[in-house]
Amino acid sequence: MEKKNSQKETSPSCDNPTARRRPATAVITGASSGFGEAIARRLAHSFGYDLILTGRRGDRLAALAQELSGKYGIEVHPLAFDIQDSAAVATAFSGIEQRLRHPLRILINNAGLAAGLSSIDAGDISDWDQMIDTNVKGLLYATRTLLPLLKKSGYAHIVNIGSTAGKNMYRNGNVYAATKSAVDALSQAMRIDLLPYGIKVTAIHPGAAETEFSLVRFKGDEARAEAVYEGFTPLAAQDVADTVGYCLGLPDHVCINDLVMTCVTQANSFYNVKSADITPPARTDPK
Ligand SMILES: NC(=O)c1ccc[n+]([C@@H]2O[C@H](COP(=O)([O-])OP(=O)(O)OC[C@H]3O[C@@H](n4cnc5c(N)ncnc54)[C@H](OP(=O)(O)O)[C@@H]3O)[C@@H](O)[C@H]2O)c1
Repeated sequence: MEKKNSQKETSPSCDNPTARRRPATAVITGASSGFGEAIARRLAHSFGYDLILTGRRGDRLAALAQELSGKYGIEVHPLAFDIQDSAAVATAFSGIEQRLRHPLRILINNAGLAAGLSSIDAGDISDWDQMIDTNVKGLLYATRTLLPLLKKSGYAHIVNIGSTAGKNMYRNGNVYAATKSAVDALSQAMRIDLLPYGIKVTAIHPGAAETEFSLVRFKGDEARAEAVYEGFTPLAAQDVADTVGYCLGLPDHVCINDLVMTCVTQANSFYNVKSADITPPARTDPK
């Protein structure tokens, strides 16, 4: 009997040149810095996808759009809006289909933040609202708004950026961790609901990564933000972007559902040893 997915043994199953060549437009939320910006660069460079870049800082999005369209000959649409505002999300994407050369096949739900780091009895309620409204409701608004196009386009793929914080709680991480647990739960739920449409749903949960994340969490306190990454080598935005690229480039029948990634000194959201505390293994190099 012929196998359903008979690939030649010589062809690497981890690469899908068809996916790379298939014309597509990708929406990346939170593309004005950090992971989102790195993912935009990766998708432009490796896939040549047209891009829709979102965030509140329109000047940054416009500069990135100009750079990537000039360098790769792709169309890049910067859309500046606050993802917490459902009406703003709907307005930003209304009529977008008419402006696209290629079908919308990719949605990277990345926009998000941690605000503050306080015990549950001392948390700032406006911080809680902002995290819930951005990380959970913003992801839902973008997904709900774009699903009609994703369902129509074929070969669609949604990538949700969660966090190790959503997998294990850590002290004072309460509401941020809860929003990322929600991203984990919603990713599982979306995967079930979207099966009939053949839409892949991948959740990627990174550990500590050096971006503007801590600067935002500590409200511009640079010393406190830098201290987070002292003594070990955290993930870089590029590491996350490469992982997203890997997931998008897999064969059409393969979906990475759930992926946790950390730097080598981190086991989960609270066990992270400093590099100086690691005893190097006795090693005999091959002669
Ligand atoms: N860095 C880490 O250690 C880490 C680890 C695990 C998961 N994550 C998650 O990864 C995602 C990206 O974070 P990052 O590390 O790249 O941080 P970042 O550099 O601060 O980037 C966050 C992005 O989200 C956008 N954003 C935030 N609030 C928004 C709003 N209300 N409306 C529209 N866009 C908004 C920001 O754009 P504007 O400010 O221009 O609006 C920015 O582009 C987040 O979901 C974060 O929770 C980060």
